[in-house]
Amino acid sequence: MAIGNLKKAAVIGSGAMGHGIAQLLAMAGCEVAMVDISDELLQKGKEKIKWSLDKFVEKKRIRAEDAAAALARITTTTSYEQAAKDIDLVVEAVVENIEVKKKVFATLDQFAPSHAIFASNTSTLSITEMGKATKRPDKVAGMHFFNPPQLMALVEVIKGESTSQETINTLVELAKKLGKTPIVVRKDVRGFIVNRILGAVFNEAFWAYHRGEATKEGIDASVKYSGGFPMGWFELADFVGLDIAYEVGKILYEAYGERMKPCAEVIDPLVKSSKLGQKTGVGFYDWTKGRPRIPFNLLEEYDVERSWAVAVNEAAWLIHDDAANPADIDTGMKLGTYWPSGPCEYADRMGLDTMLNKLRELYAKYNMELYKPCPLLEEYVSKGWTGKKAGRGFY
Ligand SMILES: NC(=O)c1ccc[n+]([C@@H]2O[C@H](COP(=O)([O-])OP(=O)(O)OC[C@H]3O[C@@H](n4cnc5c(N)ncnc54)[C@H](O)[C@@H]3O)[C@@H](O)[C@H]2O)c1
Repeated sequence: MAIGNLKKAAVIGSGAMGHGIAQLLAMAGCEVAMVDISDELLQKGKEKIKWSLDKFVEKKRIRAEDAAAALARITTTTSYEQAAKDIDLVVEAVVENIEVKKKVFATLDQFAPSHAIFASNTSTLSITEMGKATKRPDKVAGMHFFNPPQLMALVEVIKGESTSQETINTLVELAKKLGKTPIVVRKDVRGFIVNRILGAVFNEAFWAYHRGEATKEGIDASVKYSGGFPMGWFELADFVGLDIAYEVGKILYEAYGERMKPCAEVIDPLVKSSKLGQKTGVGFYDWTKGRPRIPFNLLEEYDVERSWAVAVNEAAWLIHDDAANPADIDTGMKLGTYWPSGPCEYADRMGLDTMLNKLRELYAKYNMELYKPCPLLEEYVSKGWTGKKAGRGFY
């Protein structure tokens, strides 16, 4: 579908993500029907949109009349039938449950015109399975926004097994029209790009902490002050929510086996005692008095190259699996999590041989799959593709 023909959309779910996505579509000129399970929830969603639009006006990012016009383009309903009439696009952002999502798509499939594209904002679930719940699997894809969608620049566009290239192209164009930078995940792999690489990095930090090699404050200080990352891994896990980190960790473990074995000893007790991080006031840190203070003097306690090594290895696996290219991986990590560098460009700069040696050293020491070098990395180094100094690496 040509992007210019995308004029009417339904957004299903008006929660944290749904209301933001509805707002973005309306700001880009789409008529949007926002759907939820009660009028009360829809009202709340609409109020949040109004608040956000007011902020944009206050900060002079948009004009007051444009904000009013965007708000006027959003209607609300609890009826799928009403919402799906004449639409060109659906974006679903209901709870992260495959059965609920399949039911939502199967129901909409009956009412929406046959040309309409169905996009899911899922963080972890199978796009292919959602596609199978409809009679239009070629028009079902992932469109993974980051929170808050109004502000975060990145969108992962995910191809399910039956998704057509035309659908992917339309969603890539749509993401650009919404002011975002799209990256394409060519295969329906769990964790897509950003959460998959973050999963590896979290696991390495949690295992190091569990083995008593560094304190969580020491790891976070090193990651922030030596590594230049915006947050330490424990701080970031608390910020994301330990229940979500736990669920994503479980899904990655199911998908990739031992390489993604989570450190249950570190995360499970906190989740079981409902210490879920910032949102509950306590997780790895106490958040009741604001953001935790990460002591600067511990900045050498942890070797940040270990984080980089597992990130580069997972990036290599993504390329090995033909799920993504280096440029999209790097863009994803920089825009989705504000990393100072993407893992592929980092490896090219530091030397793929250096990264490989680090992995070999860690693998020999701990005998864990997490550190076992990806065959693609071995292959590149054996071909002499060691990065910038050799004229060829990931790039
Ligand atoms: N919160 C994040 O940081 C984030 C980031 C990226 C992606 N996601 C994904 O976005 C989706 C939504 O997450 P969220 O954080 O906005 O959740 P949320 O709980 O804030 O909102 C979900 C909304 O969906 C509604 N809902 C549930 N079942 C429904 C149904 N059958 N029909 C219509 N509405 C229904 C709920 O009432 C609720 O308002 C999930 O798939 C999640 O994995 C979340």
